[in-house]
Amino acid sequence: MKQRAKWQSPSNIALVKYWGKKGFQIPSNASISFTLSNCHTTTQLDWQRAESTSFEVYLDGKRNESFEPKIETFFKNIIPLFPDLANYSYTIETTNTFPHSSGIASSASGMSALALCICSLLQQLGKIDTDFYETASNLARIGSGSASRSVYGGLVEWGEHEDYEKSSDQFAIPFKGFHPVFNTYQDTILLVHEGQKSVSSSVGHGLLNDHPFGTQRFEVAEKNMSKIKDILSSGDLDKLVELIESEALMLHGLMMTSTPSFILMLPNTLAIIQKIQTFRKQNDCHIAFTLDAGANVHMLYPEKDIDKAQQLIDTELIGLCSNGKYICDKVGNGPIEIEC
Ligand code: PMV
Repeated sequence: MKQRAKWQSPSNIALVKYWGKKGFQIPSNASISFTLSNCHTTTQLDWQRAESTSFEVYLDGKRNESFEPKIETFFKNIIPLFPDLANYSYTIETTNTFPHSSGIASSASGMSALALCICSLLQQLGKIDTDFYETASNLARIGSGSASRSVYGGLVEWGEHEDYEKSSDQFAIPFKGFHPVFNTYQDTILLVHEGQKSVSSSVGHGLLNDHPFGTQRFEVAEKNMSKIKDILSSGDLDKLVELIESEALMLHGLMMTSTPSFILMLPNTLAIIQKIQTFRKQNDCHIAFTLDAGANVHMLYPEKDIDKAQQLIDTELIGLCSNGKYICDKVGNGPIEIEC
């Protein structure tokens, strides 16, 4: 029997953000994201029966020992759910379509791709007794919360919320019934900073415990999840712009008001934000920004605004990007299993 699985899995960008945990990889609030198309990770997992688990990780064809402890911790955390996984040694070969150090979160695509490969192994062992993707999302969540949302295409919700039927803190669910305008929504990622961010997401999440605005944040996020459900169903883009920009700034506002505080935006992040907002006012369009936990700006807009967005990039934004770099992406269809 073949002892190999290979999956391509995309990154995602949250519209309502997950920031803060209330237990081991349990989100303090529900979140919702677009799955991307071009920014993805391809991972091949090879396994062999062994006395004890061991790992070799290759990034772009080269052994990368610095990733191995993270993978080892991930396996340690999922083995209690699927003890059979302890009986193998693993080789993991992974490549990203975007530069690893570009500041684009590779953990969502990377952990979801690996989780899907592990599910292929578990399926072969006959150990998956619930839905394949639900299991993959649950495993991906254990590696990186946002990765739970990368196992589906389109719009994806994660975290228990009364307005989202079958929503769960354990795994993400696809959000169906959204307006067709979102089938072709665009995301241009303006690279402001290429390199590791100064504070990791896990440290940032931790600072939400005892945060002076934590409780208020979780209440607002809960309400924003209700609001965005209506917005995504009706296609009300004016309301979408307002909500996603507020979410992005709130995320960074939480970072700036943590103890210790930290700032991940850079001067050009703010310059880009201001240019986007000014351009939108002057050009009757729906070009908006959102931010991840980093300095790069995701410019989100409907297909009808593609020409205007390109004009904005060419005339105002390109000079603010690191080495003039940006990545054109859009909503994608989710992971693909690759024959191997
Ligand atoms: O998945 P993590 O632990 O790297 O956290 C990601 C958090 C944000 O990207 C800032 C927000 C989100 O919901 O993706």
